[in-house]
Amino acid sequence: MDKLLIEGGLPLRGETAISGAKNAALPMLTAALLTAEPVTFTNVPDLNDIGTMLRLLAQMGVVVERQGDTVTLDAAGLDQPVAPYEMVKTMRASILVLGPLVARMGEARVSLPGGCAIGARPVDQHIKGLTAMGAHIAVEQGYVHAKCARLNGARLFTDMVTVTGTENLMMAACLAAGDTVIENAAREPEVVDLANCLVAMGAQISGAGTDVIRIRGVERLHGAVHRIMPDRIETGTYLCAAAATGGEIRLTGTSAAYLDVVVDKLMDAGCEIATERDAIRLKAPQRLTAVSIRTAPYPAFPTDMQAQFMAINAVADGTAIIRETIFENRFMHAVELIRLGADIRIDGNTAFVKGVGQLNGATVMATDLRASAGLVIAGLAARGETLVDRIYHLDRGYESLERKLAALGARVRRVK
Ligand code: UD1
Repeated sequence: MDKLLIEGGLPLRGETAISGAKNAALPMLTAALLTAEPVTFTNVPDLNDIGTMLRLLAQMGVVVERQGDTVTLDAAGLDQPVAPYEMVKTMRASILVLGPLVARMGEARVSLPGGCAIGARPVDQHIKGLTAMGAHIAVEQGYVHAKCARLNGARLFTDMVTVTGTENLMMAACLAAGDTVIENAAREPEVVDLANCLVAMGAQISGAGTDVIRIRGVERLHGAVHRIMPDRIETGTYLCAAAATGGEIRLTGTSAAYLDVVVDKLMDAGCEIATERDAIRLKAPQRLTAVSIRTAPYPAFPTDMQAQFMAINAVADGTAIIRETIFENRFMHAVELIRLGADIRIDGNTAFVKGVGQLNGATVMATDLRASAGLVIAGLAARGETLVDRIYHLDRGYESLERKLAALGARVRRVK
């Protein structure tokens, strides 16, 4: 298993480009299932999760063409509306094929994602919504089996804000008969990007980006070309890496537009941030000031940035209180940060992080994607060598991590 060897203590300096957003690309690739015409996506990040999704679509009969960051999907020959366990278990976002498959094929068999390191993460809301649209759903032998000749528009209300749940139902509603209203919808920018792509494919959607999305079903969708938005979590992660190391960086191909609260918190921590149209600059202070955060659905602080902020608080001046309200078990990086010398106490869904003057390198274990990012940031800030084990988590969500960090002057090396 690959590991990442980090020689810490160097401030990050320089410039690197941000990739397309994983969490926008994944639902968007499944949207291509909704039409028999080719759909082309640009700015598709080169990530293991994207590779998994493309393999999943290919085995359903979708013709996949990939050249650099451009992917064309042709689902004219879609004939296997099945997502097997072997694929779904490595990537929960596979559940995103469910809505589009039932809507276009009238049938889908999708493995339940099962448990996951950061919490139970059920898909009951996806099932509830499709059932309300008339699908007959049976959960048998670990598979969701959905059937419906044609979905009907419906008034849907999700019990909690769910990002992929909103996306699944919005995609399904595009081909349903009549109008659908999704209340308590997720407002994440990735939901808006998906809606824009669907509209380019001929869907009739309004309200994406608010908590009420209205969809008027159409008979069919057509092909389109869509550029995937920049990855706001990757952007935030590099900003944190620069902040933790006392660095000064410029990130291109991205925007602060979707990062308001993250940028505000970094400024509260003492960083100077300048935003350009398609770039962000950050200059870190000598020592960061601790900043407390509470994760919640967009536009509040993203749970996907929580581990990175735990890392920067570990070296800041003062004590930060970190509350995780989305996932019940998302503090696994804390024990690993403690191995590097961090002072962290956990009480339920709250972490108390008392900044220490200096972290020291050690061997740590990555437990999930964003936890790994937190460990890399801490390793970059720490004195000496940090070895991050199980970096396959990072490969799921960070394109060319070592190359980008090296471009910013970090000493990092992948070891087998
Ligand atoms: C998406 C993101 C992930 C991010 C998360 C929260 C993608 C591919 N992944 O995950 O990076 O961390 O949003 O911002 O976009 N829930 C239920 N029943 C459901 C659905 C969700 O109980 O049917 C619960 C979950 O367990 C969780 C909360 O709702 O506690 C939010 O989950 P959700 O927004 O669905 O997360 P994902 O869409 O899986």
